[in-house]
Formats: sequence, structure tokens, C-alpha cells
Amino acid sequence: MKIAVVGGGSTYTSELAEGFGANAAALGIDEVVLVDPAADKLAVIGPLVQRIMRRHGSRARVGWTPNLDRGVDGAAVVLLQLRVGGQSARIRDEAFPLECGCVGQETTGAGGLAKALRTIPVVLRIAERVRRFAAPGAWIVDFTNPVGMVTRALLDEGHRAVGLCNVAIGFQRRFAGLLGRAPADVVLDHVGLNHLTWETAVRLDGRDVLPELLKEHRQAVADEVDLPEAVFADGLVPSYYLRYFYGHDAEVERLRTAPSRGEEVARIEAELWDLYQDDTLDRKPELLSRRGGAYYSEAAVALMRSLLTEDGAVHAVNLRNRGFLPYLPDEAVIEVSARVGAAITPSARATLGPRQRGLVSAVAAYEELGVEAAVRGGERRVYEALLAHPLVGQHDLAEGLTRRLIATGRDHLPWA
Ligand code: G6P
Ligand code: MN
Repeated sequence: MKIAVVGGGSTYTSELAEGFGANAAALGIDEVVLVDPAADKLAVIGPLVQRIMRRHGSRARVGWTPNLDRGVDGAAVVLLQLRVGGQSARIRDEAFPLECGCVGQETTGAGGLAKALRTIPVVLRIAERVRRFAAPGAWIVDFTNPVGMVTRALLDEGHRAVGLCNVAIGFQRRFAGLLGRAPADVVLDHVGLNHLTWETAVRLDGRDVLPELLKEHRQAVADEVDLPEAVFADGLVPSYYLRYFYGHDAEVERLRTAPSRGEEVARIEAELWDLYQDDTLDRKPELLSRRGGAYYSEAAVALMRSLLTEDGAVHAVNLRNRGFLPYLPDEAVIEVSARVGAAITPSARATLGPRQRGLVSAVAAYEELGVEAAVRGGERRVYEALLAHPLVGQHDLAEGLTRRLIATGRDHLPWA
């Protein structure tokens, strides 16, 4: 079985290699190909992936190529982890909304829309090549942010795609630690939209222990999600992305003076590149844990196993709503715990309260308009999407953000 990783030149790929290596036999991986336009990065990451997989005892072939068609040729799974425009585009996304008093984040708000606009057309072009050259029935697993909108665009074009994020697996690990249990014993009910989710139940041996967990570890949970306890007094635990909503103005203040996350990540990546030059290195460096994608290879590998074997295990994935959240259109893409068998069907209970439902509905509307803007282009569509976003919502803001988004993002927007 062949796996292709598009964006394989990323510093994250060593993380993925650990997961592939540890599970190569179980998954039947006999070939991994990294695809990236940056041949110089591939020349460093490719051999590193090979050494990591060898360390795990895997004999799988490891290849690398800037040629997309060749890279995805015959693949059974294609992982998308690319970043159009690199960290420098991200740094711009994080900066321009702050000028309007709005949060500057790579997936939430106007920065997230900017990322969607430059990324979706590229991902759709890649997916067309996957359709043509990958194995029949190949899966696209998308980690490329903003995952909800990117997955929706892929599904709208009829691709066999599923979106993945590490927020849920992070909660699973954290809750397992608090409960003194192995992560595999803990099954979450995870519900919402990508980067707008709540944990609505924590199942241990089938029983929901979230109420007890919150009673005993309230402060630990508050620290984890970086929000005051009052925000989850209703018993639903928001992800840390909700601080951009429930703590919006304070976040803006903080972000105005702090170095941006993109700048921080660029520094971490420069250090990682130095480490990667060592051609005896055969494991992911500890430094990689300072990136946000913790456990991401474990989530990816476990999901791939279920996609390929249809074992019915539960994973938090991005898929079409199809009536699961009755207040959203069927075509909306939601992020939910789901059983991944011959079909992928939500396993969580859809128990969001009115407060969560309101926010999810508004952001889903924004995402629908955002995908349309990304696919069809045009200033007017960008404005419409921003006006719909609950963190924007006012004409003056939407107009100012639209102008800035297009001015700073023009290089990657063919229609601008
Ligand atoms: C979390 C999110 C990812 C995001 C990452 C950012 O893991 O789930 O979607 O890409 O954080 O990490 P970074 O190190 O780039 O800030
Ligand atoms: Mn994510």
C-alpha cells in the first residue's frame, strides 16, 4: 500500500514518519512518497523519514519528488499537509485583522478566510491529479487548514475526502491523564465545526464520566482550554480555539504586543532545519513538540487504518452534516466523533445547547460563503463571508478587512 504526503517537505513530516514507522506492518505500508515543490527540503526530509522508518524496523520504500502526478501515482491514501505561501503568508494573515481590532489567527476570523482563499484553489488542483493518478477509491485525508472549509470544497467537487485535526486527540490524551487511564480507554463525544468544537461526553467503558471529571479537575480543564470555568459551567468543554470568541478583545490586546505565532513558528522551523541537517538523526526532535500539531501522526495513522480496514473505530473527523446537526444545512461540513467503517457515521450525541448552536450556525454560514469566495473569487464574495462571520458582523469592519485581505494576499489570489 502506498501513501503520498503532499506538503511532505514540512518540518512536521518527521512526526508523521514516526507514526508510519510504528504502524507500517499493521497498515501494510510498503511505500511512502513525499511530494513538495521545494526539492531542497525534500532532499533533507526524505532521507530523515527513511531513517526514522528504518529505526522502527520498517522496510517500506521511501521516495520524494516535486512531481505531483508521479508522487500520487497509485497511492491508496493521500495526505494533504501543505501551507500555500509558507509562514510568511501566515504572518500577514495574523497581522492585518489586528489593524481593524479583530483577532489575527491563521484559522479563525479574517486570517482564516485569507488562508482559505489562497489554499482551496491549490488543494482542488491537487485533488484533480489525485483523482486521475491515485489508486481507484483512494482517500484524501486533509490536515490543511482551514480544515472545515478545505474539506467542504473537496467534497463539493466529489472527492473522497475526510478532514482531520488534532484537537480531539489532544483532549483524549489530556482526559486520559486526568482519569489515570490509557488513552485508548477514553472515547470522546466531540461535536461542532473544525476549531469550533465542544466535548459533550467522555466515555470510559461506555459510561459518560465528563460530569465527574469536571467536578474533580475543573481547574486543569480551564487551564487546558485557556478559558474561565464559567464558560463551561454548562458541562460542555470548548476547545482552546473558543478563546478567540469568548475572549476576543483580550486576545486582540495580547496579540497586538506579542510576537505572532507565525513568527514564533518560523523560528522553531529554522532550528528544526538545523537539527535535520544531521544525517545521523533518526527520530523526531523534541523541539517539534513546540509546534501545535501534537499527536497528529497518531490521529492520522489510526484514521488511515480505519479508512483502509473499515474497522468501525471512533475518530473525530470532518464530514458532511447530512442532518446530524438539524439546524445546519446537510452540505455543511462538521467535525464530529464518528465510527469509521464501510460508512462514516457520527457516534457522538448531538447535544449542543442554544449558545453553542447559535455560534456553530453563524460560523457554518460564514464557511459556506468562504468556500464560495475561494472557489469563485471576487471582492464582493469576500465581503459577504466576512460580514457573516460572528467576529466581524459589521459593514465597516467587513469592508476594512476585505480591503486589507486582498491587498496583503494578492500574490496568491489569481482573481485579485
Ligand atoms: C493545532 C491545530 C492545527 C494547527 C496547529 C498550529 O494543532 O489543530 O490545525 O495547524 O495547531 O500549530 P503551529 O505550531 O503551526 O502554530
Ligand atoms: Mn486543527
